[in-house]
Amino acid sequence: MPATVVLGAQWGDEGKGRVTDLFARDADYVVRYQGGNNAGHTIVVGSERFALSLVPSGVMYPGVTPVIASGVVIDPQVLLAEMSMLEERGIDPSRLRISGNAHLIMPYHRKLDTVMERYLGRNRIGTTKRGIGPAYTDKIARTGIRVQDLFDPAIFSDKLETVLTEKNKILTRVYNQLPMKSSGIVDEYLRYAERLLPMVDDTSLLIWEALAGGKDVLFEGAQGTLLDIDHGTYPFVTSSTPTAGGAAVGAGVGPKVLDRVVGVAKAYISRVGSGPFPTELSDEAGDRMVDVGGEYGTVTGRRRRCGWLDLVALRYARRVNSLTELFITKLDVLSGFDTIRAATGYRSGSDTYSEFPRQQRVLYNCSPIYEEFEGWEEDITDIRSFGDLPGQARRYIEFIEDQVGLPVSRISVGPERAQVVTRQ
Ligand code: GDP
Ligand code: IMO
Ligand code: MG
Repeated sequence: MPATVVLGAQWGDEGKGRVTDLFARDADYVVRYQGGNNAGHTIVVGSERFALSLVPSGVMYPGVTPVIASGVVIDPQVLLAEMSMLEERGIDPSRLRISGNAHLIMPYHRKLDTVMERYLGRNRIGTTKRGIGPAYTDKIARTGIRVQDLFDPAIFSDKLETVLTEKNKILTRVYNQLPMKSSGIVDEYLRYAERLLPMVDDTSLLIWEALAGGKDVLFEGAQGTLLDIDHGTYPFVTSSTPTAGGAAVGAGVGPKVLDRVVGVAKAYISRVGSGPFPTELSDEAGDRMVDVGGEYGTVTGRRRRCGWLDLVALRYARRVNSLTELFITKLDVLSGFDTIRAATGYRSGSDTYSEFPRQQRVLYNCSPIYEEFEGWEEDITDIRSFGDLPGQARRYIEFIEDQVGLPVSRISVGPERAQVVTRQ
């Protein structure tokens, strides 16, 4: 596996957590490279269900070193709570390594995320309100506070004072909020620092040495391709780079070390929050996907919008990530549908699109061009080999391969670790 990226090929929640967990069994390092606690990655082991937002999914295996790399934004309160939760449930998170270059999510980031969304009204993005956008904004504006700043209380206080003076003006004058006090924040963050600092490391060097020593490194993406700040459905995106290039930038390795890029996609598609969604269903079929697929947000509990698989978007994901294979999840959720559809193109007025439209406007007013498939009745959750899947399900998977031009190497048929059909 040497250097493998597992990333979302849709709008997030594709099942990256469970896929990472599966691949992590053979990995030495699992590296989160972007995003923050807007992510909710679910892993089901027997009757136990773990929802991870910051700790890499590889933490479940004692032989894996989990790494939070520079591209991630860290809310220390959330990270420490997640580590305590793992400890209480018998999983030792103390091997975690954290980049000193990662930026911190501060209380004013969370506040700003909430008030900015309120201000946008019906144009809101539908963020997770975890302070992700405001934290990345400060990173780019070069006013962010990094994990390494916690090493020096004087530097930390000084940086906080400067940035908080500006934030308080924005909070009070633009958003009519009360100002925040720096003293409380300093005390709070320096308390977190005591617990975090032993885990801080040069994670780029760590990964470099691991790869040089022939170790297997797995890069775990959060969110998904269509939520990418550059390549997603802007502005209805997250503020980081979930696409494969983000793995290199966020982890501090060159792109040439990435050998394998696994795109995770559901057998249908979902999105949470606002933004265009050509194959969205607002009928019984959509409700059935939500009910059977348990499509409610891991982080916010919001009902996910669901629709038929979008192969235009998946071809786009192949391109912008240089995907080498697909992992299709939740095929079991489609059991019992009389007819299954997948969009092979879009129609808008007299134009047809087989590539993802470069004008976002098209995504709002296009109609998907569907290929229809006969469904299957059988329960497929106990099937482990491709040949045992109903013929209709096999044809559906083969059609995806043909349309996207990539092999589907694995298919999951239930949330549990073992519920996977391996293709070879
Ligand atoms: P992530 O953010 O990409 O890691 O995905 P989430 O964990 O937010 O959402 C995926 C949900 O689907 C979780 O509740 C998983 O337990 C569940 N899941 C994953 N794979 C399968 C599958 O093959 N079948 C079913 N029924 N559920 C699955
Ligand atoms: P995982 O890793 C699905 C969405 C939010 C919103 C937009 C911006 O579990 O797949 P943000 O809080 O990031 O500024 O919100 O992005 N979003 C996700 N949707 N899965 C996620 O993560 C998401 N993380 C953010 O709903 O539309
Ligand atoms: Mg999720």
